[in-house]
Amino acid sequence: MPFTKNILSIGAGYVGGPTMAVMADNCRQCAVNVVDIDADRIAAWNSGEPPFYEPGLKEVLQRALNRNLTFSTDVAAGIRDADIIFVSINTPTKTFGDGAGMAADLQYWEATARQIREHAGGDKIVVEKSTLPVRTAASMAGILNPKGGQIRFEIVSNPEFLAEGTAIRDLQRPDRVLIGGHQTGSGRNAVQEIVDIYANWVDPERILTTNVWSSELTKLAANAFLAQRISSINSIANICEATEADIDEVAKGIGMDSRIGPDYLRCSVGFGGSCFEKDILNMVYMCRYYGLDDVADFWHKVVTINSYQKDRFVRRMITAMFSSVVNKRIAVLGFAFKADTGDTRASPAIDVCRQLLEERAVVVVTDPQALPGARADLASFDGCVEYEEDPYTAAAGSHALAILTDWPEYRDLDYKRIYEAMEKPAFVFDGRNLLDHRTLHALGFNVYGIGKATLIH
Ligand code: NAD
Ligand code: UGA
Repeated sequence: MPFTKNILSIGAGYVGGPTMAVMADNCRQCAVNVVDIDADRIAAWNSGEPPFYEPGLKEVLQRALNRNLTFSTDVAAGIRDADIIFVSINTPTKTFGDGAGMAADLQYWEATARQIREHAGGDKIVVEKSTLPVRTAASMAGILNPKGGQIRFEIVSNPEFLAEGTAIRDLQRPDRVLIGGHQTGSGRNAVQEIVDIYANWVDPERILTTNVWSSELTKLAANAFLAQRISSINSIANICEATEADIDEVAKGIGMDSRIGPDYLRCSVGFGGSCFEKDILNMVYMCRYYGLDDVADFWHKVVTINSYQKDRFVRRMITAMFSSVVNKRIAVLGFAFKADTGDTRASPAIDVCRQLLEERAVVVVTDPQALPGARADLASFDGCVEYEEDPYTAAAGSHALAILTDWPEYRDLDYKRIYEAMEKPAFVFDGRNLLDHRTLHALGFNVYGIGKATLIH
Protein backbone atom coordinates (compact mmCIF):
# COMPACT_ATOMS: atom_id res chain seq x y z
CA MET A 1 0.00 0.00 0.00
CA PRO A 2 1.44 3.43 -0.87
CA PHE A 3 2.25 5.75 2.01
CA THR A 4 -0.27 8.52 2.64
CA LYS A 5 2.31 11.15 3.67
CA ASN A 6 6.05 11.66 3.34
CA ILE A 7 7.45 13.08 6.55
CA LEU A 8 11.03 14.34 6.80
CA SER A 9 13.21 15.36 9.72
CA ILE A 10 16.24 17.45 8.94
CA GLY A 11 18.52 16.56 11.87
CA ALA A 12 19.08 13.03 13.21
CA GLY A 13 20.23 13.98 16.71
CA TYR A 14 18.80 13.45 20.18
CA VAL A 15 15.49 14.99 19.08
CA GLY A 16 15.20 14.15 15.38
CA GLY A 17 16.17 10.48 15.69
CA PRO A 18 13.96 9.35 18.61
CA THR A 19 11.02 11.59 17.62
CA MET A 20 10.90 10.23 14.10
CA ALA A 21 11.43 6.64 15.25
CA VAL A 22 8.40 6.92 17.55
CA MET A 23 6.39 8.67 14.84
CA ALA A 24 7.19 5.91 12.31
CA ASP A 25 6.39 3.28 14.91
CA ASN A 26 2.92 4.76 15.44
CA CYS A 27 2.10 5.92 11.88
CA ARG A 28 2.69 2.96 9.61
CA GLN A 29 0.73 4.71 6.88
CA CYS A 30 3.41 7.44 6.65
CA ALA A 31 6.92 7.21 5.23
CA VAL A 32 9.32 8.85 7.66
CA ASN A 33 12.76 9.87 6.43
CA VAL A 34 15.53 11.43 8.54
CA VAL A 35 18.44 13.27 6.95
CA ASP A 36 21.61 14.69 8.46
CA ILE A 37 24.93 16.06 7.25
CA ASP A 38 26.70 13.85 9.80
CA ALA A 39 27.41 10.67 7.82
CA ASP A 40 28.60 8.74 10.90
CA ARG A 41 25.32 9.39 12.69
CA ILE A 42 23.31 8.30 9.68
CA ALA A 43 25.41 5.13 9.31
CA ALA A 44 24.77 4.30 12.97
CA TRP A 45 21.00 4.74 12.59
CA ASN A 46 21.04 2.59 9.46
CA SER A 47 22.93 -0.16 11.29
CA GLY A 48 20.04 -0.48 13.74
CA GLU A 49 22.25 0.70 16.64
CA PRO A 50 21.38 4.29 17.65
CA PRO A 51 24.37 6.65 17.71
CA PHE A 52 23.77 7.40 21.42
CA TYR A 53 22.44 5.56 24.45
CA GLU A 54 18.74 6.06 25.14
CA PRO A 55 16.74 3.36 26.94
CA GLY A 56 14.14 1.68 24.69
CA LEU A 57 15.22 3.51 21.53
CA LYS A 58 16.94 0.56 19.85
CA GLU A 59 13.78 -1.56 20.01
CA VAL A 60 11.61 1.18 18.48
CA LEU A 61 14.22 1.86 15.80
CA GLN A 62 14.57 -1.77 14.83
CA ARG A 63 10.80 -2.22 14.52
CA ALA A 64 10.43 0.63 12.04
CA LEU A 65 13.80 0.72 10.24
CA ASN A 66 13.45 0.15 6.48
CA ARG A 67 9.72 -0.53 6.94
CA ASN A 68 8.57 3.08 6.99
CA LEU A 69 11.65 4.69 8.57
CA THR A 70 14.76 5.56 6.57
CA PHE A 71 17.93 7.54 7.26
CA SER A 72 20.03 9.31 4.65
CA THR A 73 22.62 12.01 4.05
CA ASP A 74 20.82 13.17 0.91
CA VAL A 75 19.23 16.31 2.33
CA ALA A 76 18.15 17.70 -1.05
CA ALA A 77 16.29 14.53 -2.09
CA GLY A 78 14.73 14.31 1.35
CA ILE A 79 13.37 17.84 1.00
CA ARG A 80 12.10 17.25 -2.51
CA ASP A 81 10.19 14.09 -1.59
CA ALA A 82 8.61 15.37 1.64
CA ASP A 83 5.12 16.75 2.29
CA ILE A 84 5.95 17.80 5.85
CA ILE A 85 9.44 18.81 7.01
CA PHE A 86 10.33 18.80 10.70
CA VAL A 87 13.47 20.87 11.25
CA SER A 88 15.27 19.30 14.23
CA ILE A 89 18.75 20.75 13.84
CA ASN A 90 20.82 22.09 16.72
CA THR A 91 20.43 25.75 17.69
CA PRO A 92 23.54 26.52 19.74
CA THR A 93 24.37 29.72 21.59
CA LYS A 94 26.16 32.35 19.49
CA THR A 95 29.90 32.47 20.22
CA PHE A 96 30.80 35.69 18.39
CA GLY A 97 29.71 39.28 17.83
CA ASP A 98 26.53 40.82 19.18
CA GLY A 99 24.77 38.48 21.61
CA ALA A 100 27.81 36.20 21.99
CA GLY A 101 27.25 33.76 24.86
CA MET A 102 23.54 34.59 25.04
CA ALA A 103 21.61 34.67 21.78
CA ALA A 104 20.80 31.65 19.63
CA ASP A 105 23.12 31.27 16.63
CA LEU A 106 20.61 31.04 13.81
CA GLN A 107 23.02 30.87 10.86
CA TYR A 108 22.45 27.09 10.44
CA TRP A 109 18.72 27.59 10.78
CA GLU A 110 18.73 30.18 8.02
CA ALA A 111 20.92 27.99 5.81
CA THR A 112 18.45 25.14 6.26
CA ALA A 113 15.50 27.38 5.35
CA ARG A 114 17.30 28.43 2.17
CA GLN A 115 18.07 24.80 1.37
CA ILE A 116 14.39 23.90 1.79
CA ARG A 117 13.38 26.69 -0.58
CA GLU A 118 15.98 25.63 -3.13
CA HIS A 119 15.05 21.93 -3.25
CA ALA A 120 11.33 21.91 -2.38
CA GLY A 121 9.82 21.87 -5.86
CA GLY A 122 6.29 22.22 -4.44
CA ASP A 123 4.21 23.45 -1.47
CA LYS A 124 5.16 22.06 1.93
CA ILE A 125 4.56 22.38 5.64
CA VAL A 126 7.71 23.29 7.55
CA VAL A 127 7.64 22.45 11.25
CA GLU A 128 9.93 24.09 13.80
CA LYS A 129 10.90 21.16 16.03
CA SER A 130 14.09 22.75 17.38
CA THR A 131 13.88 25.24 20.25
CA LEU A 132 14.01 28.76 18.85
CA PRO A 133 13.70 32.40 19.85
CA VAL A 134 10.15 33.73 19.70
CA ARG A 135 9.28 35.08 16.26
CA THR A 136 11.72 32.81 14.41
CA ALA A 137 8.73 31.70 12.35
CA ALA A 138 8.53 35.26 11.01
CA SER A 139 12.16 35.19 9.86
CA MET A 140 11.58 31.76 8.41
CA ALA A 141 8.58 33.04 6.46
CA GLY A 142 10.73 35.89 5.16
CA ILE A 143 13.17 33.40 3.68
CA LEU A 144 10.74 30.71 2.55
CA ASN A 145 7.97 32.92 1.19
CA PRO A 146 9.69 35.86 -0.53
CA LYS A 147 7.55 38.25 -2.55
CA GLY A 148 6.68 36.66 -5.88
CA GLY A 149 7.69 33.14 -4.77
CA GLN A 150 5.85 30.37 -6.65
CA ILE A 151 5.86 27.80 -3.86
CA ARG A 152 3.98 28.32 -0.55
CA PHE A 153 5.40 27.11 2.72
CA GLU A 154 3.22 27.01 5.81
CA ILE A 155 5.23 27.32 9.03
CA VAL A 156 4.14 25.50 12.16
CA SER A 157 5.79 25.39 15.59
CA ASN A 158 5.85 22.00 17.33
CA PRO A 159 8.52 22.18 20.06
CA GLU A 160 9.78 19.00 21.68
CA PHE A 161 9.55 18.41 25.44
CA LEU A 162 11.30 15.03 25.73
CA ALA A 163 13.97 14.60 28.38
CA GLU A 164 16.97 12.42 27.66
CA GLY A 165 17.00 9.08 29.46
CA THR A 166 13.18 8.98 29.31
CA ALA A 167 12.81 10.09 25.68
CA ILE A 168 10.86 7.07 24.47
CA ARG A 169 8.37 7.19 27.32
CA ASP A 170 8.03 10.97 26.89
CA LEU A 171 7.39 10.58 23.16
CA GLN A 172 4.99 7.64 23.50
CA ARG A 173 3.00 9.25 26.33
CA PRO A 174 3.67 12.98 26.27
CA ASP A 175 2.18 15.30 28.91
CA ARG A 176 1.18 17.44 25.96
CA VAL A 177 1.96 17.98 22.31
CA LEU A 178 2.05 21.65 21.45
CA ILE A 179 1.29 22.79 17.91
CA GLY A 180 1.30 26.47 17.05
CA GLY A 181 0.23 27.90 13.73
CA HIS A 182 -0.86 31.03 11.98
CA GLN A 183 -4.51 32.00 12.42
CA THR A 184 -5.28 31.87 8.71
CA GLY A 185 -7.14 29.26 6.67
CA SER A 186 -3.95 27.63 5.38
CA GLY A 187 -2.32 28.02 8.81
CA ARG A 188 -5.19 26.17 10.49
CA ASN A 189 -5.10 23.43 7.84
CA ALA A 190 -1.39 22.94 8.40
CA VAL A 191 -1.88 22.71 12.17
CA GLN A 192 -4.63 20.14 11.61
CA GLU A 193 -2.29 18.01 9.48
CA ILE A 194 0.20 17.87 12.34
CA VAL A 195 -2.58 17.20 14.87
CA ASP A 196 -3.73 14.27 12.70
CA ILE A 197 -0.27 12.73 12.78
CA TYR A 198 0.01 12.85 16.58
CA ALA A 199 -3.60 11.70 17.01
CA ASN A 200 -2.41 8.27 15.85
CA TRP A 201 -1.06 7.63 19.35
CA VAL A 202 -1.62 10.70 21.56
CA ASP A 203 -4.87 11.33 23.45
CA PRO A 204 -6.53 14.30 21.65
CA GLU A 205 -6.98 16.05 25.01
CA ARG A 206 -3.21 16.24 25.30
CA ILE A 207 -2.79 17.92 21.91
CA LEU A 208 -2.76 21.66 22.46
CA THR A 209 -3.01 24.10 19.58
CA THR A 210 -2.01 27.75 19.94
CA ASN A 211 -0.80 30.63 17.87
CA VAL A 212 2.73 30.24 16.60
CA TRP A 213 4.34 32.79 18.95
CA SER A 214 2.78 31.24 22.06
CA SER A 215 4.13 27.87 21.01
CA GLU A 216 7.66 29.20 20.49
CA LEU A 217 7.59 31.02 23.84
CA THR A 218 6.04 28.11 25.76
CA LYS A 219 9.03 25.92 24.98
CA LEU A 220 11.53 28.46 26.31
CA ALA A 221 9.35 29.25 29.31
CA ALA A 222 8.83 25.57 30.22
CA ASN A 223 12.58 24.93 30.30
CA ALA A 224 13.09 28.14 32.27
CA PHE A 225 10.48 27.07 34.85
CA LEU A 226 12.03 23.61 35.27
CA ALA A 227 15.54 25.03 35.65
CA GLN A 228 14.23 27.72 38.00
CA ARG A 229 12.92 25.07 40.36
CA ILE A 230 16.35 23.41 40.48
CA SER A 231 18.14 26.70 41.15
CA SER A 232 15.52 27.50 43.79
CA ILE A 233 16.02 24.23 45.65
CA ASN A 234 19.81 24.49 45.26
CA SER A 235 19.73 27.97 46.78
CA ILE A 236 17.70 26.60 49.71
CA ALA A 237 20.24 23.75 50.05
CA ASN A 238 22.90 26.36 50.69
CA ILE A 239 20.80 27.75 53.54
CA CYS A 240 20.46 24.19 54.88
CA GLU A 241 24.22 23.77 54.96
CA ALA A 242 24.50 26.95 57.02
CA THR A 243 21.69 26.14 59.46
CA GLU A 244 21.56 22.33 59.94
CA ALA A 245 18.20 22.13 58.22
CA ASP A 246 18.07 19.07 55.92
CA ILE A 247 17.25 19.68 52.26
CA ASP A 248 15.40 16.37 51.76
CA GLU A 249 13.08 17.21 54.62
CA VAL A 250 12.59 20.76 53.39
CA ALA A 251 11.99 19.67 49.76
CA LYS A 252 9.44 17.10 50.89
CA GLY A 253 7.67 19.69 53.01
CA ILE A 254 7.57 22.14 50.11
CA GLY A 255 6.64 19.57 47.46
CA MET A 256 3.69 18.14 49.41
CA ASP A 257 1.91 21.44 48.86
CA SER A 258 -0.28 20.45 45.92
CA ARG A 259 0.14 23.94 44.49
CA ILE A 260 3.90 23.37 44.25
CA GLY A 261 4.27 19.60 43.63
CA PRO A 262 7.30 17.36 44.23
CA ASP A 263 9.04 17.29 40.83
CA TYR A 264 12.27 19.10 39.97
CA LEU A 265 13.05 19.69 43.63
CA ARG A 266 16.07 17.35 43.76
CA CYS A 267 19.04 19.47 44.77
CA SER A 268 22.29 18.77 42.97
CA VAL A 269 25.76 19.93 42.04
CA GLY A 270 23.89 21.94 39.39
CA PHE A 271 21.75 21.24 36.37
CA GLY A 272 23.37 20.37 33.06
CA GLY A 273 22.31 19.29 29.60
CA SER A 274 22.38 20.97 26.25
CA CYS A 275 19.26 23.08 26.71
CA PHE A 276 18.42 24.60 30.11
CA GLU A 277 21.22 27.15 30.16
CA LYS A 278 21.11 27.75 26.41
CA ASP A 279 17.37 28.35 26.38
CA ILE A 280 17.33 30.62 29.43
CA LEU A 281 20.17 32.74 28.04
CA ASN A 282 18.30 32.93 24.77
CA MET A 283 15.20 34.16 26.64
CA VAL A 284 17.27 36.63 28.65
CA TYR A 285 18.72 38.04 25.45
CA MET A 286 15.24 38.33 23.99
CA CYS A 287 13.99 40.17 27.11
CA ARG A 288 16.81 42.70 26.83
CA TYR A 289 16.02 43.16 23.14
CA TYR A 290 12.45 44.09 24.11
CA GLY A 291 13.69 46.40 26.88
CA LEU A 292 12.49 44.06 29.65
CA ASP A 293 15.65 44.37 31.72
CA ASP A 294 14.15 43.43 35.10
CA VAL A 295 12.57 40.34 33.57
CA ALA A 296 15.93 39.47 32.00
CA ASP A 297 17.71 39.89 35.37
CA PHE A 298 15.15 37.64 37.08
CA TRP A 299 15.72 34.72 34.70
CA HIS A 300 19.45 35.27 34.41
CA LYS A 301 19.75 34.57 38.14
CA VAL A 302 18.66 30.97 37.48
CA VAL A 303 21.87 30.49 35.48
CA THR A 304 23.99 32.50 37.93
CA ILE A 305 22.87 30.32 40.86
CA ASN A 306 23.66 27.23 38.82
CA SER A 307 27.23 28.39 38.18
CA TYR A 308 27.53 29.31 41.85
CA GLN A 309 26.37 25.82 42.82
CA LYS A 310 29.09 24.14 40.75
CA ASP A 311 31.81 26.51 42.04
CA ARG A 312 30.64 26.07 45.61
CA PHE A 313 30.82 22.27 45.27
CA VAL A 314 34.49 22.47 44.26
CA ARG A 315 35.29 25.05 46.95
CA ARG A 316 33.77 22.77 49.61
CA MET A 317 35.87 19.87 48.35
CA ILE A 318 39.07 21.85 48.50
CA THR A 319 38.34 23.36 51.92
CA ALA A 320 37.42 19.94 53.36
CA MET A 321 40.59 18.36 51.98
CA PHE A 322 42.82 20.68 54.01
CA SER A 323 42.72 23.50 51.45
CA SER A 324 44.72 21.71 48.79
CA VAL A 325 44.06 18.99 46.24
CA VAL A 326 47.46 19.20 44.56
CA ASN A 327 48.50 15.71 43.38
CA LYS A 328 45.53 14.16 45.20
CA ARG A 329 43.73 11.47 43.26
CA ILE A 330 40.01 12.21 43.03
CA ALA A 331 37.62 9.63 41.61
CA VAL A 332 34.74 11.24 39.72
CA LEU A 333 31.79 8.85 39.68
CA GLY A 334 29.59 9.90 36.78
CA PHE A 335 30.28 12.36 33.98
CA ALA A 336 26.97 12.36 32.07
CA PHE A 337 24.69 15.33 32.79
CA LYS A 338 22.12 12.91 34.26
CA ALA A 339 21.60 9.18 34.58
CA ASP A 340 20.52 6.96 31.67
CA THR A 341 22.36 8.92 29.01
CA GLY A 342 25.89 9.13 27.67
CA ASP A 343 25.35 12.80 26.83
CA THR A 344 27.84 15.14 28.50
CA ARG A 345 26.73 18.41 26.91
CA ALA A 346 26.97 21.17 29.56
CA SER A 347 27.36 18.48 32.23
CA PRO A 348 28.24 19.96 35.63
CA ALA A 349 31.04 17.35 35.69
CA ILE A 350 32.89 19.36 33.02
CA ASP A 351 33.16 22.46 35.22
CA VAL A 352 33.88 20.48 38.38
CA CYS A 353 36.67 18.45 36.71
CA ARG A 354 38.18 21.49 35.05
CA GLN A 355 38.37 23.36 38.33
CA LEU A 356 39.88 20.36 40.12
CA LEU A 357 42.45 19.96 37.34
CA GLU A 358 43.31 23.63 37.51
CA GLU A 359 43.95 23.04 41.23
CA ARG A 360 46.32 20.27 40.07
CA ALA A 361 44.37 17.33 41.36
CA VAL A 362 44.72 13.97 39.60
CA VAL A 363 41.24 13.29 38.26
CA VAL A 364 40.02 9.78 37.45
CA VAL A 365 36.69 9.69 35.62
CA THR A 366 34.37 6.71 35.53
CA ASP A 367 30.91 6.50 33.94
CA PRO A 368 28.91 3.60 32.48
CA GLN A 369 28.07 5.47 29.25
CA ALA A 370 29.86 8.81 29.07
CA LEU A 371 33.61 8.07 28.90
CA PRO A 372 33.86 9.02 25.18
CA GLY A 373 32.15 12.35 25.93
CA ALA A 374 34.38 12.92 28.97
CA ARG A 375 37.51 12.29 26.89
CA ALA A 376 36.38 14.89 24.35
CA ASP A 377 35.32 17.45 26.98
CA LEU A 378 38.59 17.18 28.92
CA ALA A 379 40.86 16.83 25.87
CA SER A 380 42.75 20.02 26.77
CA PHE A 381 43.90 18.30 29.99
CA ASP A 382 45.28 15.28 28.13
CA GLY A 383 47.73 13.35 30.26
CA CYS A 384 46.32 14.73 33.56
CA VAL A 385 43.07 12.74 33.55
CA GLU A 386 42.54 9.01 33.74
CA TYR A 387 39.44 7.25 32.40
CA GLU A 388 38.34 4.02 33.99
CA GLU A 389 35.45 1.73 33.13
CA ASP A 390 35.53 0.13 36.56
CA PRO A 391 34.54 2.33 39.52
CA TYR A 392 36.57 0.19 41.94
CA THR A 393 39.75 0.75 39.92
CA ALA A 394 38.92 4.46 39.69
CA ALA A 395 38.50 4.71 43.45
CA ALA A 396 41.59 2.69 44.42
CA GLY A 397 44.26 4.96 45.91
CA SER A 398 42.08 8.06 45.73
CA HIS A 399 41.59 10.63 48.50
CA ALA A 400 38.01 11.41 47.54
CA LEU A 401 34.99 10.27 45.60
CA ALA A 402 32.89 12.93 43.85
CA ILE A 403 29.45 11.65 42.83
CA LEU A 404 28.43 13.83 39.88
CA THR A 405 25.78 11.74 38.07
CA ASP A 406 22.82 10.01 39.68
CA TRP A 407 23.47 6.56 38.14
CA PRO A 408 21.45 4.16 40.33
CA GLU A 409 24.21 1.52 40.14
CA TYR A 410 26.47 3.74 42.22
CA ARG A 411 24.14 3.08 45.17
CA ASP A 412 24.96 -0.61 45.03
CA LEU A 413 28.76 -0.44 45.00
CA ASP A 414 30.66 -2.16 47.83
CA TYR A 415 31.72 0.97 49.73
CA LYS A 416 33.55 -1.05 52.40
CA ARG A 417 35.81 -2.44 49.69
CA ILE A 418 36.19 1.04 48.18
CA TYR A 419 37.00 2.61 51.57
CA GLU A 420 39.68 0.04 52.28
CA ALA A 421 41.41 0.74 48.96
CA MET A 422 41.43 4.56 49.41
CA GLU A 423 43.91 6.97 51.03
CA LYS A 424 42.89 8.08 54.52
CA PRO A 425 41.13 10.20 55.54
CA ALA A 426 38.72 9.18 52.76
CA PHE A 427 36.13 11.70 51.58
CA VAL A 428 32.83 11.39 49.74
CA PHE A 429 31.35 14.49 48.08
CA ASP A 430 27.90 13.45 46.98
CA GLY A 431 26.74 15.98 44.39
CA ARG A 432 23.43 14.13 43.92
CA ASN A 433 22.61 13.03 47.48
CA LEU A 434 22.51 9.58 45.94
CA LEU A 435 24.18 7.51 48.64
CA ASP A 436 23.31 6.54 52.20
CA HIS A 437 25.45 9.04 54.05
CA ARG A 438 25.10 7.52 57.54
CA THR A 439 26.27 4.10 56.34
CA LEU A 440 29.24 5.67 54.56
CA HIS A 441 30.13 7.62 57.69
CA ALA A 442 29.96 4.45 59.78
CA LEU A 443 32.41 2.84 57.33
CA GLY A 444 34.90 5.63 58.06
CA PHE A 445 34.26 8.16 55.27
CA ASN A 446 33.98 11.91 55.83
CA VAL A 447 30.74 12.64 53.98
CA TYR A 448 29.61 15.89 52.36
CA GLY A 449 26.17 15.98 50.73
CA ILE A 450 24.24 18.90 49.25
CA GLY A 451 22.10 20.74 51.79
CA LYS A 452 22.97 18.21 54.48
CA ALA A 453 24.94 18.28 57.70
CA THR A 454 28.49 17.10 57.03
CA LEU A 455 29.39 13.79 58.68
CA ILE A 456 33.07 13.92 59.60
CA HIS A 457 35.37 12.00 61.94
P1 NAD B 1 21.85 17.38 18.12
O1 NAD B 1 23.10 18.16 18.00
O2 NAD B 1 21.88 16.05 18.83
O3 NAD B 1 21.23 17.07 16.68
C1 NAD B 1 21.14 18.02 15.68
C2 NAD B 1 21.53 17.35 14.36
O4 NAD B 1 21.27 18.28 13.29
C3 NAD B 1 23.00 16.98 14.26
O5 NAD B 1 23.15 15.59 14.01
C4 NAD B 1 23.52 17.83 13.09
O6 NAD B 1 24.51 17.18 12.31
C5 NAD B 1 22.26 18.06 12.30
N1 NAD B 1 22.30 19.23 11.42
C6 NAD B 1 22.71 20.48 11.72
N2 NAD B 1 22.59 21.28 10.63
C7 NAD B 1 22.10 20.50 9.63
C8 NAD B 1 21.76 20.73 8.27
N3 NAD B 1 21.91 21.94 7.73
N4 NAD B 1 21.29 19.71 7.53
C9 NAD B 1 21.15 18.47 8.07
N5 NAD B 1 21.46 18.19 9.35
C10 NAD B 1 21.93 19.19 10.13
O7 NAD B 1 20.78 18.34 18.80
P2 NAD B 1 19.47 17.89 19.61
O8 NAD B 1 19.85 17.62 21.02
O9 NAD B 1 18.76 16.88 18.84
O10 NAD B 1 18.67 19.27 19.63
C11 NAD B 1 18.03 19.74 18.46
C12 NAD B 1 17.10 20.86 18.86
O11 NAD B 1 16.07 20.34 19.72
C13 NAD B 1 17.72 22.01 19.64
O12 NAD B 1 17.08 23.19 19.27
C14 NAD B 1 17.38 21.69 21.09
O13 NAD B 1 17.30 22.85 21.88
C15 NAD B 1 16.02 21.06 20.96
N6 NAD B 1 15.66 20.09 22.01
C16 NAD B 1 16.59 19.18 22.46
C17 NAD B 1 16.22 18.24 23.42
C18 NAD B 1 17.19 17.22 23.94
O14 NAD B 1 16.84 16.49 24.88
N7 NAD B 1 18.38 17.08 23.42
C19 NAD B 1 14.90 18.21 23.90
C20 NAD B 1 13.98 19.14 23.40
C21 NAD B 1 14.38 20.08 22.45
C1 UGA C 1 15.04 19.01 29.81
C2 UGA C 1 13.53 19.07 30.03
O1 UGA C 1 13.19 18.22 31.12
C3 UGA C 1 12.78 18.61 28.79
O2 UGA C 1 11.39 18.78 28.98
C4 UGA C 1 13.23 19.44 27.59
O3 UGA C 1 12.61 18.99 26.42
C5 UGA C 1 14.73 19.33 27.43
O4 UGA C 1 15.38 19.77 28.66
C6 UGA C 1 15.28 20.20 26.35
O5 UGA C 1 14.65 21.14 25.92
O6 UGA C 1 16.40 19.86 25.97
P1 UGA C 1 16.88 17.11 29.88
O7 UGA C 1 17.83 18.24 29.87
O8 UGA C 1 17.09 16.01 28.91
O9 UGA C 1 15.38 17.65 29.63
O10 UGA C 1 16.85 16.43 31.33
P2 UGA C 1 16.22 16.81 32.75
O11 UGA C 1 15.75 15.54 33.34
O12 UGA C 1 15.26 17.91 32.70
O13 UGA C 1 17.49 17.24 33.59
C7 UGA C 1 18.23 18.43 33.29
C8 UGA C 1 19.29 18.63 34.37
O14 UGA C 1 18.69 18.99 35.62
C9 UGA C 1 20.12 17.37 34.67
O15 UGA C 1 21.46 17.74 34.89
C10 UGA C 1 19.50 16.83 35.94
O16 UGA C 1 20.38 16.04 36.70
C11 UGA C 1 19.14 18.13 36.65
N1 UGA C 1 18.05 17.99 37.64
C12 UGA C 1 16.81 17.60 37.26
C13 UGA C 1 18.29 18.33 38.96
O17 UGA C 1 19.41 18.72 39.34
N2 UGA C 1 17.27 18.24 39.88
C14 UGA C 1 16.01 17.84 39.52
O18 UGA C 1 15.13 17.79 40.41
C15 UGA C 1 15.78 17.51 38.19
